[in-house]
Amino acid sequence: MRSYIIKGGNPLTGHVKIGGSKNASLAVLSAAMALDGPCIIDNLPDITDLSVLLQIFSDIGATVEYLEPGKVRLDATTINTHEVLHDRVTQIRGSYYLMGALLGRFGKVALRMPGGCDFGVRPIDLHLKGFEALGAKTEMSYGIVSCEAEELTGGGVFLDTVSVGATVNIMLAAVKAKGKTVIDNAAREPHIVDVANFLNAMGADIRGAGTDVIRINGRPTLPANKEYTVIPDQIEAGTYMILAPLTGGDITVEGVIPKHMEPLSAKLVEMGVEVEEGDDTIRCYMKEGSSLQAASFKTMPYPGFPTDLQPQATVLLCVAEGTGRMIENVWENRFQYVDALRLMGANIITSGRLAVVQGNSHLTGSQVTARDLRAGAALVMAGLAARGTTKVLDIERVERGYEYFVEKLTRLGARIERFESE
Ligand code: UD1
Repeated sequence: MRSYIIKGGNPLTGHVKIGGSKNASLAVLSAAMALDGPCIIDNLPDITDLSVLLQIFSDIGATVEYLEPGKVRLDATTINTHEVLHDRVTQIRGSYYLMGALLGRFGKVALRMPGGCDFGVRPIDLHLKGFEALGAKTEMSYGIVSCEAEELTGGGVFLDTVSVGATVNIMLAAVKAKGKTVIDNAAREPHIVDVANFLNAMGADIRGAGTDVIRINGRPTLPANKEYTVIPDQIEAGTYMILAPLTGGDITVEGVIPKHMEPLSAKLVEMGVEVEEGDDTIRCYMKEGSSLQAASFKTMPYPGFPTDLQPQATVLLCVAEGTGRMIENVWENRFQYVDALRLMGANIITSGRLAVVQGNSHLTGSQVTARDLRAGAALVMAGLAARGTTKVLDIERVERGYEYFVEKLTRLGARIERFESE
C-alpha cells in the first residue's frame, strides 16, 4: 500500500506540462488491436492503467515494443486468441474496448468483465446492443462477456444514454464490418474524435465523430503502418487549473487544447478566476483583491462539465465564498469522497446526486483514503490547500491516472512525498 504525506497551505505556482489523455490512450491503443499492420502511438501518459492494458495485449500475443517514454509500436497481427480471461482485465475499465476490437478482428471475443473505478453500477448493455445491431450474438455468464458473429454487418444503433465506452466500442466493431453503421446519440468527447482520427489515419472511413451521429463505412482491411499522437489529457489539465485558485497560486498548463477545456474554463471565470488562453497553454490565477465565488455545477456528457472533474471542483467550492451546488448527472454514486472532505473541515450536505457545499471552509490536514482515481486526486488537492499535514492512503488508485503526480506538484512548490507502507 502506498500513501502521500502532504504539508499543505502554500500557493502552487509555475508551469506544468500536461501528458497524453488517459482515456484517449486506452481507446486508441485498443483500436490498434483491430488493425492489419503495425502502428506507432506517441504521447502516451506514464500511468499504471496503460501499463496494465499493454500487458494484456502482450498476454494475447500482440507485439508491443516500447520505443521511448510515451511511445510504443504495436502489431496486432500476432494476436493468437480471441479470449481475454486473465485477472488483469478486472484491474482497469479500459480493457472493455477489447470487446469491440477483437470482435471486429476475429468475429468473436470472450472477455472477463472489466473493472475500474467504483462509482455506481457500470452497465455494458449499450455496448452489447451495438454489437447485436451488427449481427453479433452476445452472452454474459460467470463474469465473462462473449460475443460472436458469423459476419459482422453494418447497422443502425441508437444509444439510449450517451455513453463514451459504447460509442468507442461500436466504432471498433464496425470499422471492418461489411457495409455502413450509424451510431445515433453518440458521445462527443474529444477522445471519441481522437479514436476516429486514429482509425481514419490507419485506413478507416469514419465520419461525424464529435457530433451525435457517427457514420462508419466498413473497410475489409486497415493497413495501418502509420504514426499517431494522442491528444492531451483534459482531466489532468483541469486538475492543475483548479489547483491555482484553490491554493491561491498561479499555474500555467502547457501542451493543452484550450477548446477542450472550455467547460471548466467557463466555470472558473464565473467563479472569479483569471483564465488566460494561449495557443496551447492556459494560465489560471486570482487577481489581487478579488475573491473566489461559489457557483453551481452540473456534470454532463461533453461539451458539458466533465464528471471526471467533479470531485476536484467540489474541493474548490469548499474554499469559495457562498454556497455552491454540484449535481452529478452521469454516475449515481460519485460523492464517496465527501466524508473524507468533511473530516478535513468541509461543510457539505449530499442528497442523491446533489451536493450542497457551504464555502469559506478552513480545511485542515487529516488521514483520508483515496476511494477512486479522481476522488483521490481531490483529496490530494484538499491536502495541498489545507493547513497542517494530510495523509492520503491507497494512492495506487490516483496513480492509475496521473503521471509523475508527486514530481509535477513538487515542481509547482507543493510539499508532498510518497511512502510505501504495510
Ligand atoms: C468513460 C470514462 C470515465 C468517465 C465516463 C463519463 C474511460 C476508460 N472512462 O467511462 O472516466 O467518467 O466515460 O465521461 O474512458 N451506461 C449505460 N449502459 C452502458 C454504458 C453506459 O447505461 O452500456 C451509462 C452509465 O451507467 C453512465 C453513463 O451511461 O451513467 C455514462 O457512461 P459511459 O460514458 O459509458 O462511461 P464509461 O465509458 O464507462
